[in-house]
Amino acid sequence: MKIAITGKGGVGKTTFSSILSRMFAEDGYRVVAVDADPDANLASALGFTKEVYESIVPISEMKNFISDRTAAQTGTFNKMFKLNPKVDDIPDKYCKEYNGVKLLTLGSVDYGGSGCVCPEHVLLKRLCSHLILQNKDVVVMDMEAGIEHLGRGTAQGVDAFIVVVEPGERSIQTYRKVKQLGSDIGVKKVFVVGNKIRNKEDEEFISDNLENGDLLGFVYYSQDVVDSDRSNQSPYDINSNAKNQIRAIKNRLIQL
Ligand SMILES: Nc1ncnc2c1ncn2[C@@H]1O[C@H](COP(=O)(O)OP(=O)(O)OP(=O)(O)O)[C@@H](O)[C@H]1O
Ligand SMILES: [Mg+2]
Repeated sequence: MKIAITGKGGVGKTTFSSILSRMFAEDGYRVVAVDADPDANLASALGFTKEVYESIVPISEMKNFISDRTAAQTGTFNKMFKLNPKVDDIPDKYCKEYNGVKLLTLGSVDYGGSGCVCPEHVLLKRLCSHLILQNKDVVVMDMEAGIEHLGRGTAQGVDAFIVVVEPGERSIQTYRKVKQLGSDIGVKKVFVVGNKIRNKEDEEFISDNLENGDLLGFVYYSQDVVDSDRSNQSPYDINSNAKNQIRAIKNRLIQL
């Protein structure tokens, strides 16, 4: 199963991605969690120690490595380079593993404008496509907020997008745009998780705004989740109702 977690800024993508990844790992799956947000913070949500996550070098910053693999200077645009760099050894060599979850941190790429091709992007895109199409593990991608980056195709070929929404019109708008973009890039299934729910009215607001069959479930607002962030613990390593609710969502996802 390969899924990409998307949605508006701050809705809970990283929290959800981390709990889901840890849960799959605890159930015995091999899991690769991909931090595809340039403002990377999935490592701490997964529970990696500060020492480890501060030592992580994102793939896009491995300049010499990228130059070797693509036969091109990083930071250049539209020059000649290999479009099919070797990537199959990257997940094992460059991920950090903790509690059964392998983490790959992609990092940020300087895009030189629309239509640009640069070695960093080619390598990341090919790495993701390898993970999505050839790798046997469960892949959970924690995406950057919004939709602008989806057109670059890092998540192309995933089985589904999960859009995390809050009970509010603005995150629903993002859901609609993801749905549109998904169909443009061939991702047919777009599911929704309603997060930070407080009551039945919140549930109804979200249900009323979705297309039939898109809803996976709700995660209620949880003070324990907020506290885990404040104390820099993984939301998976604390007791909260959110975990039970996400377990139900995971089971539904497997069914579908
Ligand atoms: N169910 C929940 N109940 C309470 N707080 C939550 C819940 N889910 C997430 N949060 C809190 O909301 C904040 C944002 O969460 P998170 O970082 O997961 O969002 P994000 O969508 O990944 O944000 P960004 O767009 O910046 O990547 C965090 O402080 C997190 O603890
Ligand atoms: Mg995030």
